[in-house]
Amino acid sequence: MELLFAFALLLIFLFSFVLLFGAPYLPTLSAQAESALDLVDLKPGDHLLELGCGDGKVMIAAAERGLRVTGYELNPILAAIAWLRTRRYGKRVKVVCGNFWRVKLPPSEGIFVFLLPKYMAKLDTKITQESRKPVKLVSFAFKIPEKKIMKEKQGVYLYTYK
Ligand SMILES: C[S@@+](CC[C@H](N)C(=O)[O-])C[C@H]1O[C@@H](n2cnc3c(N)ncnc32)[C@H](O)[C@@H]1O
Repeated sequence: MELLFAFALLLIFLFSFVLLFGAPYLPTLSAQAESALDLVDLKPGDHLLELGCGDGKVMIAAAERGLRVTGYELNPILAAIAWLRTRRYGKRVKVVCGNFWRVKLPPSEGIFVFLLPKYMAKLDTKITQESRKPVKLVSFAFKIPEKKIMKEKQGVYLYTYK
């Protein structure tokens, strides 16, 4: 009983401490995941980053389109689930358990996020400072303040960085 209680506390902790760094876990719906991939419009072999990859759902949809994908996830339980779900794609898909704010973004052609409004300006600054080549950002649900939206589909917003 005590073990069960400790386990429940650990779960509550793991799913709530991410609120200090980003959005809580809430998966993107399949239709919106596909819309994001349509909007970002990458070629097979291109690299997509997912900042806060949750259970790996969007990564799987991207891998099914032939993309290379790297997902960052702070919650170790979700990172483990994402890793298990994407293992079949081999080296094309990588799950990194960690805080993406602390990582220098690797080169990629596209980035997908589903965060919270209060992090969008910080994300804009990070991408602007760290991208060495043009990159497209797709954000589900939340906009970047004062940045021009290039396209929108089903609540997913496309932005470009030169
Ligand atoms: C709203 S959920 C979206 C999950 C997934 N991207 C999707 O669309 O289905 C946000 C995810 O980001 C993770 N997260 C939040 N802040 C993070 C950070 N700083 N570094 C890595 N992961 C983070 C959360 O644990 C959560 O799984």
